[in-house]
Amino acid sequence: MSDTTSKLQQIRHYLGVGALAALVIGIAPTAMARDGLSILNAKCKSCHLPDDKTPLTADKKLVRISDQRKTPEGWLANIGRMQVMWGVKITDQDRRDLVKYLADKQGLAPSETEGFRYAMERRLNTTSENFEPLFAEMCARCHSGARFALQRKPAEEWSRLVHFHLGRFPSLEYQMMGRDRDWFGIALKEVVPALAKAYPLESQAWSDWQKQRPAANTLAGEWSFSGHLPGKGDVAGVMTVKNTENDQFKVEVKGQYADGGAFNGEGSAVLYNGYEWRGNIKMGNDTLRQVFAAVNGEMRGRMFDKTHDERGLDFAAAQKGAAPRLLAVQPGYIKAGQEAEVSIIGSGLTGAPSFGNGVQVVAVVAQTPERLTVRVKAAADAADGLRAVSVGSISGGSLAVFKNVAEVKVVPAFSVARIGGNGGATPKMEGRFDAEGWGQGADGKPFRIGVFPAKWSVEPFNDQAKEDQDLKFAGVMDAASGIFTPGDAGPNPARKMSTNNTGNLKVVANVNAAGQALKGEAQLIVTVQRWNNPPLP
Ligand code: HEC
Ligand code: HEC
Repeated sequence: MSDTTSKLQQIRHYLGVGALAALVIGIAPTAMARDGLSILNAKCKSCHLPDDKTPLTADKKLVRISDQRKTPEGWLANIGRMQVMWGVKITDQDRRDLVKYLADKQGLAPSETEGFRYAMERRLNTTSENFEPLFAEMCARCHSGARFALQRKPAEEWSRLVHFHLGRFPSLEYQMMGRDRDWFGIALKEVVPALAKAYPLESQAWSDWQKQRPAANTLAGEWSFSGHLPGKGDVAGVMTVKNTENDQFKVEVKGQYADGGAFNGEGSAVLYNGYEWRGNIKMGNDTLRQVFAAVNGEMRGRMFDKTHDERGLDFAAAQKGAAPRLLAVQPGYIKAGQEAEVSIIGSGLTGAPSFGNGVQVVAVVAQTPERLTVRVKAAADAADGLRAVSVGSISGGSLAVFKNVAEVKVVPAFSVARIGGNGGATPKMEGRFDAEGWGQGADGKPFRIGVFPAKWSVEPFNDQAKEDQDLKFAGVMDAASGIFTPGDAGPNPARKMSTNNTGNLKVVANVNAAGQALKGEAQLIVTVQRWNNPPLP
């Protein structure tokens, strides 16, 4: 293999496709899998010197590596960066084993990932609102806030990370939000102490988690699940999990969408650090990745197409035999004065269902411990608002009751789709939308009713977009599903200055909510391909 080929391969791994896939594909360890310590010894120790000259042991520290904790994706991105920036040569198998070793030994407690799981779940339209302005301006302007909020280090390490940034990317001082301030000074004097305080190496949560971390085989068994895929609808079913060896699993998913479509597949998964569940499920021609947190008899996260991470569903599952749980009510709303069939999804669902004031159970249609389907009737004078739903002594979900839909919100309100294809290696990245109906409760407060079918279209967002004919070039909206397919990649001679098929569009949802005609709007930026696509955005 020539140097160029191997370099290209490394970059491919680093940039995403290869790297992401490597994390889960072919996860079954070979008989020759090396333990993490020997890999550190062979691949990392040459540059990252141990704290003394005697042989490496598990409790010995390697400079820059040992005083760090991060997620599996964080370690993968880090090692990928070592390959690209420092020419580290490591096989995919060794890298997988090393990521596993480091993520287990130097990981995060479940509570330490809260609020930032969006990055691992690849919800790339997330905007870091409410993030501390110091971090947002100084750090979360080139990459996500999650990239560092999912790391734990002492002040000295945070400080070295700042030095690495300026040394490696000196132009950051001339960029916006760099040239208007003493970036390096503020980073060292203010940001480093703030990071060390917010994200310290030692924490109670981490020492507690290491003591209580459950064994992998406690996850074996059946899991009742519910989910929602924008552009398609609600889904529910059962996932069967077999613990094959160590932290490896065989997984079978059997479910159904609300419209009757099948949601079936088989695959495998790995458990990192006692709760970070990463699966690969083959469904027809697609492979769906599972990124879940498995804690206390529950799995929560997202399942998404491996080559199209924008095609993904929110996922929640409850383990059969663990504490009974109510996961979802599908559909989650009913109009006052009407009768409808509603399913409650969960585990251990025994006893009588209750839907609160003004909602009466007319008949139980079917009942298993995982799914209870009933006909309910909402009184004509039932007050607008959310009802707490329970089955026997289990509560958890809610049912929205409404007379009027006050407003339709298109979600996401602001998002990005990307041109692609046209012979290039990067596929188009779609826009995917839901039309959410919101009501006004008897208390005057807005409440979310749920997702309504809509007729979808796009318009130019402003005069500039109109002048540039963005509507004609940027892509096509599917009227029924709300799925937007962007235009082809590459310069287009038909456009002003042969520019790309990018655009600034308004997404419009026309909703007919049981007799009421309403309209919701959102903004969609259609832009160029994402060239740098590391495991943590
Ligand atoms: C050829 C030398 C070299 C090898 C081999 C090497 N590294 Fe590094 N590593 C560096 C240098 C230089 C830095 C500091 C600058 C930087 O962060 O890029 C660094 C930084 C790091 C950091 C700190 C980054 C941070 O988050 O602040 C970690 C962690 C790390 N390396 C892990 C590894 C692991 C794991 C391996 C083995 C797979 C490895 N390195 C192999 C050169 C190397
Ligand atoms: C000028 C843009 C820019 C700014 C500002 C910036 N970063 Fe980065 N950061 C990068 C790039 C580029 C990388 C390298 C990885 C990559 O190519 O995605 C990186 C990597 C990282 C990594 C991963 C390191 C590893 O080896 O795993 C962390 C953590 C990080 N940055 C934290 C921060 C923090 C904290 C701040 C604020 C003090 C900050 N970044 C500010 C561009 C930036």
